[in-house]
Amino acid sequence: MKSLIQTLTQTPGPSGYEQEIRKVIREAVTPLSKSIQVDALGSLIVRVGEKKPGGLRVMVAAHMDEIGVIVSHVEKKGFVRFSNLGSILPRYLAGGRVRFLNGVRGVINHDRSEELARIPGVEKYFIDVGATSDKDCPVKVGDVAVFDREFLDMGKRVSSKAMDDRVACAVLIETMRNIKTTPNELVFVFSTQEEVQSRGAQTAAYAIEADLGIAVDVTPSGDILGVNMQVYLGQGPAIKVRDVGMIADPKVVKWMADTAKKNQIPCQMEVLDVGSTDARTMQLARSGMLAGALSIPCRYVHSPSELVDMDDITQSVKLLTALLSERIQL
Ligand code: CO
Ligand code: ZN
Repeated sequence: MKSLIQTLTQTPGPSGYEQEIRKVIREAVTPLSKSIQVDALGSLIVRVGEKKPGGLRVMVAAHMDEIGVIVSHVEKKGFVRFSNLGSILPRYLAGGRVRFLNGVRGVINHDRSEELARIPGVEKYFIDVGATSDKDCPVKVGDVAVFDREFLDMGKRVSSKAMDDRVACAVLIETMRNIKTTPNELVFVFSTQEEVQSRGAQTAAYAIEADLGIAVDVTPSGDILGVNMQVYLGQGPAIKVRDVGMIADPKVVKWMADTAKKNQIPCQMEVLDVGSTDARTMQLARSGMLAGALSIPCRYVHSPSELVDMDDITQSVKLLTALLSERIQL
């Protein structure tokens, strides 16, 4: 599982440019499904099982895109200005490194400012790719990059860029491997462009017309100081109750909590004040869908060093497997 997470997090796939990560995921799921499709927005749609009497069609989504940056202009001196692809947080930028899809690497810093205590906006940052002028700059306007940060194995806990949401992609793949029988028609979607308002899940949800939608994504862990949230690393998957974009269906929340209890899987309840997931998009697809989400606790979300606990991953796979393997009564 660790090596799968390492491969998935280290493969670049900024929003809108998911071709490389899609290839890696496609290889992993090919032995597990007879029906694999890619839609116009690039989401990978993988079907497992058929709908038997009493079964439901369930869409399970994890996004394969990660946050990144896109070149907006190149200064005469060769410094590269950029804009964000998804929610890039300026406080995590200075001193960091990025890797462009063409392989070029660079270091990030920002303009000199008299107010050193204030964190500047993204527009004040630049990437130094080693160019001496705009003439010899190896990247151009429109080129995209992701954080360049190696996978760090700390034993029980691991850290990398793009844990959001590759760790959930790994959970989906492992769940597919685990499911032996199911009365449900399961449609696993590795969605694109979640970090730019969940656009991949929107078209996928429209096409799939599921009875129930479940997103698997990370959620900020509340166990670092100054966070007002009761979701902690190492205490199991969090069942989403609400975030800024959705109120999970209470029937879905209860079903998830009951299933966890029945199978003795530790879990927590999530009430989140920032952000949302593909579950919001599924809930609002067509004329609406029953929806909920499982969240993997993660420290330092949207930084180059996101950190998760391996136990939470194992328990998430167990819970998702249990949820999808049985007849779902809501
Ligand atoms: Co995110
Ligand atoms: Zn995410």
